[in-house]
Amino acid sequence: MIKIITTIHEMKGIIKSKKAQGKTVGFVPTMGYLHEGHTSLVKWAKEENDIVVVSIFVNPTQFGVNEDYDVYPRDLERDQMLSEEAGAEYIFHPTVAEMYPNGYQTYVEVFGITDKLCGASRPGHFRGVTTVVNKLFQIVAPHRAYFGLKDAQQVAVIEKMVRELNMDVEIVPCPIVREADGLAMSSRNVNLSPIDRQSALILSQSLMKAKEMIQAGNVEAKEIQRAIENKIAEESAVAVDYIKIVDFTNLEEIDVIKGRVLIALAAKVGNVRLIDNIIMEA
Ligand code: PAJ
Repeated sequence: MIKIITTIHEMKGIIKSKKAQGKTVGFVPTMGYLHEGHTSLVKWAKEENDIVVVSIFVNPTQFGVNEDYDVYPRDLERDQMLSEEAGAEYIFHPTVAEMYPNGYQTYVEVFGITDKLCGASRPGHFRGVTTVVNKLFQIVAPHRAYFGLKDAQQVAVIEKMVRELNMDVEIVPCPIVREADGLAMSSRNVNLSPIDRQSALILSQSLMKAKEMIQAGNVEAKEIQRAIENKIAEESAVAVDYIKIVDFTNLEEIDVIKGRVLIALAAKVGNVRLIDNIIMEA
């Protein structure tokens, strides 16, 4: 039976005793309302570690004032069942006061790459992510931590933090899990109306089109970007925030497709902000 741990003290104690028994620890940080994207990470973690900890914590410091913290979906009972099925032993589920007690004033910030893509539209977002992930790493002290490439910039930011702060954890990036019709799985999809859910398909379709163009030999980033824009413009309900073609190593925009390229986009569909991307090796 999976155990839900709510205090930092108890979580640290469990990890300490597991490590004393020589067990390896895999960690999957989440904000809950789990779907197959999350459970795929748990399954990867289970394959490579003796015990798996999933954290479920809707982290207030990574949400802007007008963002969806209050309406972010939550369902601990269902998350418990899905985590257990996927092979986790523990859920770490602290309260906000446990993680950020009164007077809390310490933050971890990666500069530069956090100003780009989602960072440009969500100031302070990645500072909240790196702060909470750093805290979670201190508490769970995992050998390996699993992150989805659905949030490709988040992976790049966490990898940079781990490298530059000399942290003893291996970051394992895992592929995007999609619905059968191509929509990237997201906890936020539940907030889409049925009509908006249909309109949102244009996002993954536009990325598939970009992929085909690159596979056919097109190396002009501007042309590919324009093709994505035009495709998304077919859906009037979709308001693009950004479409960017960048080098995945530094998130700098590129003119010519070569090396490891990230094509990332963000858009609002109704009131819901969605992101999607593809990574191409050209
Ligand atoms: P959350 O959005 O809950 O996502 C938790 C993890 O699941 C992230 O690593 C994310 O990239 C991954 N994930 C989400 N959808 C996925 C999909 N369709 N396919 C594969 N992986 C997917 O990301 C966060 O939470 C938070 O920022 C967190 C890292 C927990 C810090 O608060």
